[in-house]
Amino acid sequence: LPSWFWSLCRNVEFMNLTSNQIRGTFANLTLEFSYFPELHLSSNKLEGPIPSILSKASYLDLSNNKLSGSISFLCSSAAIYLGFLDLSSNNVSGQVPDCLTHLENLVMLDLSYNSLSGKIPTTIGSAFRIETLKLRSNRFVGQLPSSLKNCTSLVVIDVGDNKLSGPIPEWFGVSLKNLVILMLSSNHFNGSLPSQLCHLTHIQILDFSMNNISRNIPKCLNNLTTLAQIGHSNQKITHPLGNSNSTYHYEDDATFIWKGRMQTYKNTLGLVKRIDLSSNRLTGEIPSEITHLVGLISLNLSRNQLRGQITPKFGNLQLLDSLDLSRNHIDGRIPTSLARIDRLSFLDLSYNNLSGKIPIGTQLQGLDPSVYAGNPQLCGPPLKKMCADEEERGPSKQTDFINQEDKDELITLGFYISVGIGFAAGFWGVCGTLIFSRSTHEDMHT
Ligand SMILES: *[C@@H]1O[C@H](CO)[C@@H](O)[C@H](O)[C@H]1NC(C)=O
Ligand SMILES: *[C@@H]1O[C@H](CO)[C@@H](O)[C@H](O)[C@H]1NC(C)=O
Ligand SMILES: *[C@@H]1O[C@H](CO)[C@@H](O)[C@H](O)[C@H]1NC(C)=O
Ligand SMILES: *[C@@H]1O[C@H](CO)[C@@H](O)[C@H](O)[C@H]1NC(C)=O
Ligand SMILES: *[C@@H]1O[C@H](CO)[C@@H](O)[C@H](O)[C@H]1NC(C)=O
Ligand SMILES: *[C@@H]1O[C@H](CO)[C@@H](O)[C@H](O)[C@H]1NC(C)=O
Ligand SMILES: *[C@@H]1O[C@H](CO)[C@@H](O)[C@H](O)[C@H]1NC(C)=O
Repeated sequence: LPSWFWSLCRNVEFMNLTSNQIRGTFANLTLEFSYFPELHLSSNKLEGPIPSILSKASYLDLSNNKLSGSISFLCSSAAIYLGFLDLSSNNVSGQVPDCLTHLENLVMLDLSYNSLSGKIPTTIGSAFRIETLKLRSNRFVGQLPSSLKNCTSLVVIDVGDNKLSGPIPEWFGVSLKNLVILMLSSNHFNGSLPSQLCHLTHIQILDFSMNNISRNIPKCLNNLTTLAQIGHSNQKITHPLGNSNSTYHYEDDATFIWKGRMQTYKNTLGLVKRIDLSSNRLTGEIPSEITHLVGLISLNLSRNQLRGQITPKFGNLQLLDSLDLSRNHIDGRIPTSLARIDRLSFLDLSYNNLSGKIPIGTQLQGLDPSVYAGNPQLCGPPLKKMCADEEERGPSKQTDFINQEDKDELITLGFYISVGIGFAAGFWGVCGTLIFSRSTHEDMHT
């Protein structure tokens, strides 16, 4: 961007240069913006340091460039009107200076995919209007600062893939009641899962995978109200920006492992409901309360040291698309109810101590035999190992099993009724809105 271009920009209020091939640095940029402009400069080839004059923007998207150096421009008192800052996928480095005291209007901060190091500064607590905080894939160390408690509007926290450590703070559940997405994956968090997490009644994505978390999964999971409901969510997670008269919004996206692959969700993020506690050191049984979370679409508890059996109540999780319980110490039979989760397209039960016949049903037989591997006492298709005759007929055992299943049937019936109610509410929620907005629209014309 040549200097003559910038000299035209003094009075700019809105600039969109997204997705071009603009290269070069901001060097020698001496202009003073008259307003607090909205600058969209993402997906270019800008490099070098970020000049402090850009802190006077109200909206600054510099993501997907090659910017480097520190982010000390955030210390400028001009940053007081900054509402949106996206610096993701650049090469900025060094510590985040502990000077964030002017960010009182900041709603969204994304510093993901850079080379930032050191601790997350305490002054982040000054950004008390912040709703989205994304620090994924940097080299942050130490504990999460307790000043984050101050940021009670937080809806999304993603600090995945850093080197953060210490316990999972109890104040998540006490102070940050608006959280919808909480992702702490691939860090060094240890200690147990605090029961206060169960107060997060709006939570839809809880991802604590690949940490060092030990002890039991809390039993109070049924208090996670949004996960215990079907539907009722918006397709996108949007946030208003600027003053209350503004109609400007931004939409959250999130990146996580889905059916074994890293994926990014944005347009349907609001519909994703998942819990991932995989690759930790959790012990004890899988609490049956987890089967109350009938909104769950994905559950990953693999690579822990969980014991006990798979309760037949797992059949209640009728929306489950993906279930990974592999690499634990789970024993007993696979409940028949699992075969009746029609949507289940990904199941991994490998490397446990399951036994008996794999229940018959299109889903479970259609899966690759490897998802049952490492359970030497499992038998029946799709495994090559046939079940012994007594396994097929064994009178007393088999009756017990059927009785157990009959109990399930009742739960399932209640479940379908609630699905029906949920559908009706969802249908009228959407169509009612359309009818309403249409009539107001016509009113405006008349
Ligand atoms: C900026 O331009 C890009 C590319 O043309 C477009 O996709 C995007 O919607 C624009 N953003 C705004 C806020 O107008
Ligand atoms: C917490 O937020 C208040 C405004 O609600 C602010 O005045 C105060 O400085 C913040 N405290 C910390 C520790 O950041
Ligand atoms: C997990 O904790 C154990 C025991 O405290 C420790 O030896 C190990 O290094 C930790 N692993 C990680 C990834 O933090
Ligand atoms: C967590 O890790 C720290 C060291 O990083 C260690 O001092 C502490 O004992 C660990 N806590 C638990 C509960 O394992
Ligand atoms: C769960 O919810 C019940 C009823 O609302 C409440 O009494 C209980 O204290 C909650 N438990 C936790 C750990 O949040
Ligand atoms: C569960 O998480 C592990 C990592 O902890 C991952 O390797 C596996 O693919 C995940 N399972 C699914 C179904 O996504
Ligand atoms: C696996 O289960 C069988 C009973 O079905 C039991 O005898 C055996 O000790 C278990 N193995 C492990 C490693 O827990």
